[in-house]
Amino acid sequence: MNPLPRNGRRPGRPRPRIRRATLAATASLTLSLLALAAPGAPAAATAGDRALPAGDSLAKCAWLNQKLSISTRVHMVLSRMTLANEIRMVGGQGTSEPYVFYMAAQPPFCMPAMGLEDGPVGVGDGLHGVTQLPSAVSLAATFDRSLAQQYGKVIGQEEWGKGAAVNLGPTINIDRDPRWGRSFEAYTEDPFLNGAMAVNEINGVQSTKEMSQVKHFAAYNQETKRNTPRDNVIVSPRTLNEIYFPGFKASVQQARAGSVMCSYAMINGAFACNNAYLLRTTLDERWHFPGFVTSDYGALHSTRGAVQGTSMEQPFDRFYGAALLNAVRQGRIPRSVVDGMCARILTEMFRFHLFNNPPTGNTRDKVTTRGHQAVATRVAEAGTVLLKNDGTLPLSASNGGEVAVIGPAASAATSDTGGGSAYVTAPFSVTPLQGLTAAAGSGTTVRYHQGLPADTSLAAIPSTDLSPPYSPTPFGGRYTGTLTAPKTGTYVLAVTNPCRCYDATTLSVNGTPLFSIPSTPPVHTYSASVRLTAGHRYIIKITGGSSALTWATPSVLAPGINAAAAAAKAASAAVVVVSDDTESEAADRFSLSLPSAQDELVSAVAAANPHTVVVVNAGAPVAMPWLNKVAAVVDAWYPGESNGTALASVLYGNTDPSGHLPVTFPRNLSQVPASTLQRFPGVNGRVHYSEGIDVGYRWYDAKNITPMFPFGYGLSYTTFGFSNLNITPGKGGTAVTVTATVTNTGHVAGTDVAQLYLGDPPVAGEPPRQLKGFQRVTLSPGQSSTVTFTLNKQDLAYWKTSANKWVVPGGQFHVYVGDSSALANLPLHGSFAMVKS
Ligand code: BGC
Repeated sequence: MNPLPRNGRRPGRPRPRIRRATLAATASLTLSLLALAAPGAPAAATAGDRALPAGDSLAKCAWLNQKLSISTRVHMVLSRMTLANEIRMVGGQGTSEPYVFYMAAQPPFCMPAMGLEDGPVGVGDGLHGVTQLPSAVSLAATFDRSLAQQYGKVIGQEEWGKGAAVNLGPTINIDRDPRWGRSFEAYTEDPFLNGAMAVNEINGVQSTKEMSQVKHFAAYNQETKRNTPRDNVIVSPRTLNEIYFPGFKASVQQARAGSVMCSYAMINGAFACNNAYLLRTTLDERWHFPGFVTSDYGALHSTRGAVQGTSMEQPFDRFYGAALLNAVRQGRIPRSVVDGMCARILTEMFRFHLFNNPPTGNTRDKVTTRGHQAVATRVAEAGTVLLKNDGTLPLSASNGGEVAVIGPAASAATSDTGGGSAYVTAPFSVTPLQGLTAAAGSGTTVRYHQGLPADTSLAAIPSTDLSPPYSPTPFGGRYTGTLTAPKTGTYVLAVTNPCRCYDATTLSVNGTPLFSIPSTPPVHTYSASVRLTAGHRYIIKITGGSSALTWATPSVLAPGINAAAAAAKAASAAVVVVSDDTESEAADRFSLSLPSAQDELVSAVAAANPHTVVVVNAGAPVAMPWLNKVAAVVDAWYPGESNGTALASVLYGNTDPSGHLPVTFPRNLSQVPASTLQRFPGVNGRVHYSEGIDVGYRWYDAKNITPMFPFGYGLSYTTFGFSNLNITPGKGGTAVTVTATVTNTGHVAGTDVAQLYLGDPPVAGEPPRQLKGFQRVTLSPGQSSTVTFTLNKQDLAYWKTSANKWVVPGGQFHVYVGDSSALANLPLHGSFAMVKS
């Protein structure tokens, strides 16, 4: 049982969530949460509706005069505030407010309330009437700056429409490892692509009056042990500055994000929200960030955070509130520190005109529009990556014969989005089956075969096979039993954890963990397949709360798989949609294998029909043991509400698949940079980032490892050629211009993503190649276009540890242009020389 009551104020978003660290640490917090969690009707409020009491005017609040400079206005407000007034600004208001984070209004100062709402892939936290966008990784796969702006604009308009002045997003943490549960809501493993996407999305958000709170600063790359001292990241300044910081630096300097969220990670011994190196030395002193830093949910660990650089604690005021008040009164923290925290918040509130024009929307307002839905569809289409094609794709929409559409993910149990605070409630969802059926013309018939039972429909394991019989485990509980396999073959085991508490429950078999269910929206039943041998005994362990342990035996699975294979045999093509519905905040994956017996299903269908197309719905790389047996593979990520519409457009050839991988797809986990336990998820409380700057494709290139699919890779229905590499050093030797010609060498129109990689002189100690430019080009058959990349001084620099700064190394730089990070896909090579900066 869940020991904490849920906040009944908003169906679909139970608050407060249980955090392992917080739970273990504080009984007193538990009591205050209990007091806060009185049930009530769903809240409907605007951030501004309690803002300005009647009669307020310039006379009362002279800082409403927008002709004055922002610093003058900030100074005017602060000069009227007492310490208690200021303390109220910097602490959260608990979980009973309409927005997940909330700053209360202070009417005497004409100060509106400020709602801060998730999130990175659309308005989250259970609010309805919003657009469920494709996941951020899908956006990154478009390599399209303009789409990133449009995506941001949708989010900004919808947050604002709901009355929330600050969007908690984008999530720009680096995909250090494909097992990270939040990979889907982040962009990529590459800092350059990360920065480009972040800047454009934030520009889009902030063009709508909405403020962006870019998150989570920094080195937050796993869910395991998060927000505990056991997630102590040991990482070098060079690695931070070259890999984990650049997206944040670009966000605050180029896009001028109003706010930054500090992360759950502990970095070199100090929690991110109590980390002066991150917040003071880096954000303030090096980057001159003028905005405010908010703690992630419960991520502040002491009142010293005020001095260390966190301006606002959310959603509680455990360390600020009374504790901060006392610290100032007792002289432990200077009043000027609190003034400074408020000044930062006020500066951004004035910059975004929140005193004069707070949002007037309501949490119940419908904010999704046809225009927003069109952006969602466009991103889903453009982000779809064609990984393999023997010519089976595109399918013929007319006279294509029978197309067998197979798999729970095609209709019965679709995966449109990932879980946790980034989960967005869809206003509707077009399933792959619906999309493919609707777009089929005459002479093409679509028939559905589920092939596998949905995880939620599995049967309990009978006591004849499991001893002692399973019974539900309480929150934090355990179950251990012995399962005797009645038959040899593939089984599906599933566990349900319905607590909605953001706390993981793990299932293991003979000591091998299969999965962790974080119990976040939208999925509460996870499954995995295991091969068991008749008569053998297996120790089944559940750690954490659970309400059901279920299974499907080989005898239960066989009829569905066989029927799907038979239907595929009779069809002209088979489309198997597979999904990984286990990606979420609050838990990492233990393996890259697809849940349930989806691999068996694909293999059986592929054996029956040589024109088998596999569509993957997942936010991160998955294992593809059937890759050599199938005709085509399409990665559609989590495509959001337009899933089937976008898929049909790509599979029938109305849209050229133009997505390119923003993350490397490894063959298996032994290939990944953080393959050791020391690196992921860490040992003895330390997570060693000892792969250093060799993250993502940098690692594969440096170690000469060939992954399943390289970063930047993606096929099209046409082919492209590259020629005419030209490198022109700029004046003063600092900027370099590179041009190249891209030609559509195939027979249909299509889009490619031209990519420039730079190889530094050896003295820099960099991996062989780093992405420093990309450009989408759409071309008709036979058409050519020139792509231009500009390399500035920063693009050429590396972080020199001994000098503690960026330095441009002297020597020969190598330029590679093509359409993936793999050398084989980089046909143009050139070089230029630089003198040391
Ligand atoms: C997540 C943040 C989110 C916050 C509020 C935290 O658990 O890490 O990304 O913004 O909750 O929902």
